[in-house]
Amino acid sequence: MRRPLIAGNWKMYKTPAEGLDFVRQLAPLVDGVNDRDIMIAPAFPALETVAGALKSTSVALGAQDLFWEAEGAYTGQVAPRMLVACGCRYVIIGHSERRQYFGETDETVRRKLRAAVQAGLAPVVCVGETEKEREAGQTFPILDKQIQNGLEGLIADELALLVIAYEPVWAIGTGKTATVGQAQEAHRFIRSQVARLLGSPLASAMRILYGGSVKPENISELMAMADIDGALVGGASLKPDSFSSIVKFK
Ligand code: 13P
Repeated sequence: MRRPLIAGNWKMYKTPAEGLDFVRQLAPLVDGVNDRDIMIAPAFPALETVAGALKSTSVALGAQDLFWEAEGAYTGQVAPRMLVACGCRYVIIGHSERRQYFGETDETVRRKLRAAVQAGLAPVVCVGETEKEREAGQTFPILDKQIQNGLEGLIADELALLVIAYEPVWAIGTGKTATVGQAQEAHRFIRSQVARLLGSPLASAMRILYGGSVKPENISELMAMADIDGALVGGASLKPDSFSSIVKFK
């Protein structure tokens, strides 16, 4: 019922030329794949070049962050309409690396989410617990807090395009994937919390992606879980062959 979404988060990798090279190699590999959505999120300087190369493909463009103001004296920030003008359809919000290194909080996630929604961008809101929080039995309360505070003040009608990415911080870039059981349990919990806050129709239509050391070897078992609707892929999205293998999971 939910259309799978495989998204690549390139993080701080790839110049415009490297992004272009990637898309030229990826395009034939995913040609004809039309029963799932594909997205890649380059760094800001590569957005426009990659957008141009993606035009003849079914791959959508996303950004890795945005600022909530429409314009102004905010050195270093990028406004939602600038992303739209570059061809972005998605924007990642509240990635754990932004929370960890750049002071992102549930409050900034909320403001960015509102701005993304107003600009017509599909937000990919990231949530997830650290290793310490998991060991302390805090996984569900942390997810609950991130979702409740991050989505506060928005109504279901505004969130039709909402995607949530569950990325356990301890599984990002570590080679340690959550077990499919751990991932499914977290995804089911996230869906139930969204249903409680915003109603079942939105919660059952909303895609929840898993992120954290997703590879061609583990995508199929993850996608077999009832509440896992796709993946947010870091390291393995940087090579056309590994990313296309993930996209073409069976
Ligand atoms: P890795 O796939 O490199 O673990 O990164 C996951 C991630 O952070 C995607 O946003």
